[in-house]
Amino acid sequence: MKKAKRTIAAFIAAVSAAGTLHIAGVSAAPLLIKGDINRDSIVNVSDMVIMKNYLLGKYGLNENQSIAADINDDGELDSLDLSALQEIIIGSMNRLPSGTWIGDCNGAKRYFSFGDGAGTLIDPSSGSVQDFTIDSDEDMAVFTMKKTGSALSAFITWTDDESFVLKWDSGDTETFRHFCDNSIKSSELLKGHWVTSLGRTFDIDGLSGKLTDKSGNISRFEYAPNGGDVMFHFGSTENNTPGKIVHTDSMHFVITWDGGTKETFTLQKIEVRSGITYVNGILIANKTYPLPSDYNPGKILPEAQSAFNAMQADAKKAGYNLSIVSGFRSYSYQSQLYNNYVARDGKAAADTYSARPGHSEHQTGLGMDINNASSSFNNTAEAKWIAANCYKYGFIIRYPQGKQNITGYMYESWHVRYLGKQLAKEVYDSGLTLEEFLCIDSKYKS
Ligand code: DAL
Ligand code: ZN
Repeated sequence: MKKAKRTIAAFIAAVSAAGTLHIAGVSAAPLLIKGDINRDSIVNVSDMVIMKNYLLGKYGLNENQSIAADINDDGELDSLDLSALQEIIIGSMNRLPSGTWIGDCNGAKRYFSFGDGAGTLIDPSSGSVQDFTIDSDEDMAVFTMKKTGSALSAFITWTDDESFVLKWDSGDTETFRHFCDNSIKSSELLKGHWVTSLGRTFDIDGLSGKLTDKSGNISRFEYAPNGGDVMFHFGSTENNTPGKIVHTDSMHFVITWDGGTKETFTLQKIEVRSGITYVNGILIANKTYPLPSDYNPGKILPEAQSAFNAMQADAKKAGYNLSIVSGFRSYSYQSQLYNNYVARDGKAAADTYSARPGHSEHQTGLGMDINNASSSFNNTAEAKWIAANCYKYGFIIRYPQGKQNITGYMYESWHVRYLGKQLAKEVYDSGLTLEEFLCIDSKYKS
């Protein structure tokens, strides 16, 4: 017989809140695990002893114990159950799971992905993802959390090939069902609120989520990413919908479903803090999302100003003079500007090129007009240089040509918006307006 490793130190060291493997929860009634005759959530040799003594007529068994002891479910307790019990015990020794499993501890669900001796724990309720290594010692599984260095151990009982039970040292019992054969890396998770090009929304947490279709019908799903492949199980694990997944940038991925339909997913987390709207952390001021009238940074924000200075210096080297002709504008100044335009051209016309007070990006301190805020600037060498290069400094052309029905404004070759280098490059590479990139509108309510 294989000599068992004796490496186990069953202890629970200081485990960080994020890295904890212990679930604090109300103790539910003990699970009824086949073979667990003494009902300690562990199937081991002590159950064998009880079974043998029962068969020898030494012990009686109560109802739950009898159910647990009738392993082959034939209504009889006999030597067949004794050998089945022996098989469970032998079958659980040194056997570690592989692939991805869903754990359930008193109703709290989390995912364990097992690779070769290592894995990832995904906890949808806390959003934590933690890597661990796993080792086995006879029928103990020892998890060592990589980040904290702490170790936890659990007794593993295989109930069948599709399920097992862990009895943690803390006393908690967690049942596991098989989810998929591959292990899942935390970077493959699709967490968040996504709106898609097919008019659907997906709210994803961990490896499951809620799908709302165009008509508002809701269905539940689970999904299993596997490199460039992804499998969705809508409604039940029987309804398999495979697809190929490509991550385009930090806020988009595209799934090509079996059959060829492509669906683009756009991350969309809209938060309003102190009256200011942020979409995926990006401050938005447009016709749909206004700023509070007292929001007043007073000047172009320092990061945007230094990005402009760097752009100005490089433009100079290339032979172009850039200067800011309009930077920060307060709510009241925008109000004067807009009202003057309305008086001059009428409201409908003014709305195509001037923002109503509270709706101007100039009030954010992140938008600016360069050189000449007029369509005579379009097609100038400077305008072309800005269009081709501003993303390298963290800016985008905010109101591009031909997108008036999306941004709400006519083409402004002179107006740039600071987003930071990474995002500006993503938006530039996408060829989309900021509204399209974030799947948001720019429309006045009235
Ligand atoms: N010209 C831009 C749209 C503004 O008024 O903010
Ligand atoms: Zn402007």
